[in-house]
Amino acid sequence: MKRATRLVNFDSFCQNKDTDSPHTINPPIYRGSTVLFKNFADFTLATSGKHQGITYGTDRMPTQRAFEEAVRELEGGALTRAFQSGISAIINTFLAFTSSGDHILVCDNAYGPTVRYCTHILEKFNIQTTFIPPAAGKDIHEFLQDNTKLIFLESPGSNTFEIQDIPAITSLATTREIVTVLDNTWATPLYLDPFALGINISIQSATKYLIGHSDILMGTVTTDEKHADILQEYYRTTETYAPEEDCYTALRGLRTLPLRLGQHERSALEIARWLESLPQVGDVIHPALPSHPQHRIWQRDFTGSSGLFAFTFAEEQPSEKLAAFIDSLQLFGIGYSWGGFRSLITAARYNRSQASEYAGKTVIRLNIGLEDPADIMNDLKSSFESMA
Ligand SMILES: Cc1ncc(COP(=O)(O)O)c(C=O)c1O
Repeated sequence: MKRATRLVNFDSFCQNKDTDSPHTINPPIYRGSTVLFKNFADFTLATSGKHQGITYGTDRMPTQRAFEEAVRELEGGALTRAFQSGISAIINTFLAFTSSGDHILVCDNAYGPTVRYCTHILEKFNIQTTFIPPAAGKDIHEFLQDNTKLIFLESPGSNTFEIQDIPAITSLATTREIVTVLDNTWATPLYLDPFALGINISIQSATKYLIGHSDILMGTVTTDEKHADILQEYYRTTETYAPEEDCYTALRGLRTLPLRLGQHERSALEIARWLESLPQVGDVIHPALPSHPQHRIWQRDFTGSSGLFAFTFAEEQPSEKLAAFIDSLQLFGIGYSWGGFRSLITAARYNRSQASEYAGKTVIRLNIGLEDPADIMNDLKSSFESMA
């Protein structure tokens, strides 16, 4: 059965159809901290950690379990756990899989708060980070140390879109028993299969495409078989959980992921190709365009592209002109995050520790939503004209 069919149907396979309670097409939301045991014998089993059922609100209520199971299936992994945001999923992965005295590698183009967590917090616990080039591949061997325990990748990076050579990195990591983690939010498991490329742990900021409606923050961590026990035990010990209502909404978004992502992909590509033809535009930074520096790696490893990409101006613009361009857009919201139905725009300069071809340039990032692409292009066209 294809993934789109499984996503629509997967919990009808899990529901117990033998009970008398109504079978709503979506799983019901359970609200509660206390969960009552049938009898004292079950309570005693729970106290000794042997009870099979749900013991408490933090023990993952049914809708959370349904959402996790849907993501696990989509990822093709062994175990999925939901966290209250994407950054929470990332932070908790670092905490679960590293210890004091470890060294980790993190790609330099990772999401800003991921980088900040390494330099501001992990450092305090004697976990040292080395940032590796945004398009790293087998050259990462230069950065490895005897105590390197984890490699964190984000490919493409969600601001400047460099792509790492994941198979080259994972094959090196495997020989040294280094855990590899991928923030795969841009491609989602539909367009890049992390486990097939040797990644051990796959992360989604579900806030973006999985949920797709910009109304919930959520993150997921999915592991391969070898790392499932560590995540399970960590999650149980920290008593982390994700709110049931949020899991319900997340599950609803997930049903339409293939449909939405396909539309984001088509619109973004059409707009990116059109932007490439404009004299006002410098680089269009979209991995599926042949002009992208790692396009060949994208072609090899990915099966599609999503709706987030960027461009630079042919000539760097003074800040008033940049503001005029952005403020005159009618269809783009100015705001963080991406993956939702509405088009969004941000602009920033990135000065990173590693060399980047976009250093000193303003990178305009577009989240292409579900509007008609012709309207989006008209909107951008008018803004280019108003800037002139
Ligand atoms: C690539 C990437 N990973 C993780 C996150 C964090 O996700 P959240 O906003 O759910 O904390 C973001 C947020 O923008 C992101 O762009």
